[in-house]
Amino acid sequence: MLNLRPAFFAGVALAGLALPLASHALDVDAALALQRQNNCNKCHHMEREKEGPSFRKIADKYKGKADATDKLVQHLTSSPKVKLADGTEEEHKVIATRPAKDMAQVKNLVEYILAQTKK
Ligand code: HEC
Repeated sequence: MLNLRPAFFAGVALAGLALPLASHALDVDAALALQRQNNCNKCHHMEREKEGPSFRKIADKYKGKADATDKLVQHLTSSPKVKLADGTEEEHKVIATRPAKDMAQVKNLVEYILAQTKK
């Protein structure tokens, strides 16, 4: 009986960790796959600045803003002009999904990015 206890407490701890993710319905694997397929990593790193800002910096910038998701979905689907780290300007990549223009996939990736704030 006694040696069942650690497993029980571990189970409770795991359930506690999984809850916030589950309630958000965020699909991390899908977000990472979409990001990989689109080569976003060429310019964005989770924590480091590259040609574009880190996803953490973006998340911090939009923290607490109610329209953050809409703004970033818009950003990823409308090719706005952006300034790269070296000062040159170009149109931001329009995200490609399969099937095309699947906003649920874009939104999932945006929510994943917005979740990368410094805790
Ligand atoms: C050629 C380099 C490049 C690629 C590839 C790229 N980005 Fe960006 N991205 C940038 C730059 C530069 C900015 C900075 C815009 C600014 O602050 O002016 C940016 C900004 C952003 C922002 C923040 C917009 C805001 O309003 O602050 C998000 C989110 C983003 N990129 C996501 C992505 C995703 C997702 C992909 C892959 C589909 C991607 N980027 C591909 C260069 C790139």
